[in-house]
Amino acid sequence: MTEIRTPRLLLRRWYDDDLVSMADINADPQVMRWIDDGSVLDLDHTAEAIEQWEEEWDEEGFGLFAVELLASGELAGFTGLSVPEFLPEVLPAVAISWRLGSPFWGQGYASEAAQATLEFALQDRGLDRVISISRVGDDASENVIRKLGMTLERETAHPVYGYPLHVHTIDLTEFQA
Ligand SMILES: CC(C)(COP(=O)(O)OP(=O)(O)OC[C@H]1O[C@@H](n2cnc3c(N)ncnc32)[C@H](O)[C@@H]1OP(=O)(O)O)[C@@H](O)C(=O)NCCC(=O)NCCS
Repeated sequence: MTEIRTPRLLLRRWYDDDLVSMADINADPQVMRWIDDGSVLDLDHTAEAIEQWEEEWDEEGFGLFAVELLASGELAGFTGLSVPEFLPEVLPAVAISWRLGSPFWGQGYASEAAQATLEFALQDRGLDRVISISRVGDDASENVIRKLGMTLERETAHPVYGYPLHVHTIDLTEFQA
């Protein structure tokens, strides 16, 4: 079982008990503002999503980690890797993404989890490169992307919603620089 410990976080696979906490995060309009069409997700959709994330782990050997605070055991959200099927123009590719509950913002947790995820992707899993796809205007995500040292590769539009997207990238050499 893949688990990563950082100074303050445990990145791990998903437990059944995570459902309610993750559903609370997905039900918050502030959290979902920059994702898809900005709609919140209910408990059933969150359950389906967690099931898909676990399937991706089994099929690909990577996926979205549940991010747990070591100090309290609380679920803060997720950070991890997925294949961005919704944006065929970037494929083949593996994308890093993140989503934390709003009480967990502004404490450096997203960056700490993302740094560990890139190390897992590029060093442990040996992926050639990792991209990130962010909606233009999502400044909190772009701040994390900047701190990770990722480079802007292209600007494009969301195939369904039409809004502008940034695609950033990083490889092992850039990550280690
Ligand atoms: C995107 C998201 C994960 C970013 O979270 P975040 O908490 O802002 O990101 P970070 O972990 O980088 O923390 C940011 C701030 O924490 C502060 N901080 C407090 N204590 C800290 C510590 N011990 N170490 C580092 N930073 C700390 C810093 O000031 C840092 O800001 P700075 O980089 O300007 O200095 C969060 O806004 C989110 O979940 N949004 C909703 C979901 C979403 O939009 N996902 C993206 C879809 S693609």
